[in-house]
Amino acid sequence: MVDASPDPGALLDLAVGLARQAGALLREMHANRPREIGTKSSRTDMVTEMDRASERLIVDGLLAARPDDGIVGEEGSARDGSSGVRWIVDPLDGTTNYLYGHFAWAVSVAAEVDGTVAAGVVVDASHNEVFAAVLGGGAACNGAPIAVSGHDELATALVGTGFAYIAERRAEQGALLRRVLPNVRDIRRGGSAALDLCWVACGRLDAHYEQGLAPWDFAAGGLIAREAGALTSDFAGGPPRAEEFVAATPAVHGPLLVLLST
Ligand code: IPD
Ligand code: CA
Ligand code: CA
Repeated sequence: MVDASPDPGALLDLAVGLARQAGALLREMHANRPREIGTKSSRTDMVTEMDRASERLIVDGLLAARPDDGIVGEEGSARDGSSGVRWIVDPLDGTTNYLYGHFAWAVSVAAEVDGTVAAGVVVDASHNEVFAAVLGGGAACNGAPIAVSGHDELATALVGTGFAYIAERRAEQGALLRRVLPNVRDIRRGGSAALDLCWVACGRLDAHYEQGLAPWDFAAGGLIAREAGALTSDFAGGPPRAEEFVAATPAVHGPLLVLLST
């Protein structure tokens, strides 16, 4: 049955509760080594029992509350729904950081309503930060409104990026980075695209760009960045997509696109 008008605020509340629980589980498991580590798309693309346990917790919670929704999760959850709501889940964004003891990892949960992301949360459990947004409602961190930096010059912009797990892809990304680096203040490679987008949203970065993301990397963070005042697009200024994703303060966005597509 199609839910006539799912309330984005209620969807967000559900997502926040489950993402917080998953974040707490991941913190707890982090303290209890050893772990089973496998690989996915390449030898550098790691997956752990923790990624799977986090996804299980979130998916079980979503289905218990909303059994007619669709779900797509990085660790294999794929379910068609009939309600018009589809959840997009990255149960652990920043697995490499998590395994190496770097504290930039997060849980990301977004809700699409009829194909548009309407609510999203990114939980940084290491720092007790919960970034959240509903479409048209602004973005917040721990309940307090956040906004982009308002930085207005590319040459002095702090820009985040990330790299794929496939070597050939990285060679292309390195070539692009070589062009970007001399034209900005500096580059950050945080290791969690979801958090990078939240950091654009709260002014810790002036922009983020990346090629070859997956929908779960940017569904929630992209909404949070937009609701905080960022412009998001692909490198040509079209709608943002997994293959090319840019989020930037309004004044940095245009010049960054010129640089990325030159
Ligand atoms: C990765 C992180 C990383 C980004 C990669 C993603 P994962 O997600 O978001 O920052 O550069 O493109 O795949 O594998 O840690 O969930
Ligand atoms: Ca990810
Ligand atoms: Ca992941």
